[in-house]
Amino acid sequence: ASEAEEKDLVIIGGGVAGYVAAIKAGQAGLKVACIEKRDALGGTCLNVGCIPSKSLLNNTHLYHQILHDTKNRGIEVGDVKMNIQQLMKAKDTSVTGLTKGIAFLFKKHNIEWVKGSGSFVDEHTVKADLVEGGERLLRAKNIFIATGSEVSPFPGLQVDEKRVITSTGALALEQVPKKMLVIGGGIIGLEMASVWSRLGAEVTVVEFLGRIGGPGMDEEIAKQTQKILQKQGLKFKLNTKVVTGDTTGELISLNVESTKGGKAETIDADVVLTAIGRRPYTSGLNLESIGLETDDRGRLVIDHEYRTKHPHIRVIGDVTFGPMLAHKAEEEGVAAVEYITKGHGHVNYGAIPSVMYTYPEVAWVGQAEQDVKAAGIKYKVGTFPFSANSRAKTNLDSEGLVKFIADAETDRVLGVHIVGPAAGELIAEGTLAVEYGASCEDVARTCHAHPTLSEAVKEAAMATYDKAIHF
Ligand code: FAD
Ligand code: NAI
Repeated sequence: ASEAEEKDLVIIGGGVAGYVAAIKAGQAGLKVACIEKRDALGGTCLNVGCIPSKSLLNNTHLYHQILHDTKNRGIEVGDVKMNIQQLMKAKDTSVTGLTKGIAFLFKKHNIEWVKGSGSFVDEHTVKADLVEGGERLLRAKNIFIATGSEVSPFPGLQVDEKRVITSTGALALEQVPKKMLVIGGGIIGLEMASVWSRLGAEVTVVEFLGRIGGPGMDEEIAKQTQKILQKQGLKFKLNTKVVTGDTTGELISLNVESTKGGKAETIDADVVLTAIGRRPYTSGLNLESIGLETDDRGRLVIDHEYRTKHPHIRVIGDVTFGPMLAHKAEEEGVAAVEYITKGHGHVNYGAIPSVMYTYPEVAWVGQAEQDVKAAGIKYKVGTFPFSANSRAKTNLDSEGLVKFIADAETDRVLGVHIVGPAAGELIAEGTLAVEYGASCEDVARTCHAHPTLSEAVKEAAMATYDKAIHF
């Protein structure tokens, strides 16, 4: 290797956490290198996560709506067909456009993208094994680890991304499976189940817990969502676990068992999607050489300023604590740089929204009712159904509700939970309320335009301390 090059900041990983930190640091005039081994920037989110999944969700929803929800609107359509190849091409075009956009922003801010795999040589030196061959040594005043996460494997089922797939395979199937079994009714499971079910697959979701949605979703909202998704044709087996799978036959055969001691049964499927969570990814970093350890869940341990025990080495994004979400990774990228350049940064972990992009969307921020109850907090609930919201009714799209949870004494907003049209956009108002420590009355006394879906948010907030007007 040649002599080490000097940088102010070296970032390992060019996902959302890493690329956002790189841009923020570049804007502040730091000399930055970002090491990314993938052939495009943007990490999981842009390449095989948020962006391609939302492309498929958007376009399959449109297709499903044209098939099932046009006649009553006075729209008569002829022969409707899905061209899977074109669906995938549209997805790839979105991904490429966005990843190239980041490469452009890197150039604009004089950030060097080192294409290769990064590993530690010592506390201040990172080696990049270059994709094109050879290696480079980078010496840095500051180092960020932003290596993200990977799929948690399901023991006993070997992933081939054709028949036994992860989310990555589910974003690129070449044909619609006849029968699909999804292990895990969390966010990935439900988003991907929606995509392939809309295209005609018979989808069964097997979930270990007694409710869908993964961690954080309010139980009442999860129940409502399950009902809506069932009407769309998804089948659910809750309190159920997959015990073994046999992939030797033409169909994959799975033995499933009730977690409550019921009888076992066998389910056959053409394709099995494993979606039981993700785990931090640190392999190949040579962390031992600098004495850094991970906790029992594989997460790198940090303090409130993202520092490891070597204070100039910071960790951001999926590879450390907190929800594995792109916008959380982004906030941390900005804050970690601000700790270097300004001495202070800010992320409010109590106000990070979650959105599941099914149809309708499910979105929430703050605490769920079951959490508030378990914490022994005295609380009030206000709900408002979209079936009483004028815009939702006019749009013939009125399934779902908005739910506010407020502190019983102070009226402070503790949580906002929405299942319904545009929930993912509407939740921004709830997030602002939680961030600013607003009361429900603050939200309800704010004038909302008519007729909009956001009036359902206003009226749900009103329902915590008074009667809603339209329900
Ligand atoms: P990553 O995006 O995983 O990036 C880490 C990068 O580091 C990778 O590109 C990897 O190649 C690189 N890397 C790792 N080790 C090295 C090394 N040693 N050297 C060089 N490079 C290395 N979140 C949302 O908020 N909204 C969504 O809608 C959403 N949808 C998702 C859908 C799916 C199917 C999946 C799987 C995830 C989704 N997520 C979503 C989660 C989101 O993708 C992650 O939270 C986000 O990507 C985390 O960013 P990160 O930078 O921490 O890690
Ligand atoms: P998840 O944690 O959301 O859900 C996993 C589900 O699988 C849970 O409900 C869990 O109870 C269940 N499960 C675990 N083991 C099981 C078993 N053996 N049998 C049956 N069920 C089992 O994880 P998921 O869906 O894999 O997603 C990973 C992460 O990716 C999410 O937590 C989220 O952070 C991120 N993501 C975010 C998206 C978004 O923001 N829209 C979209 C997709 C992913």
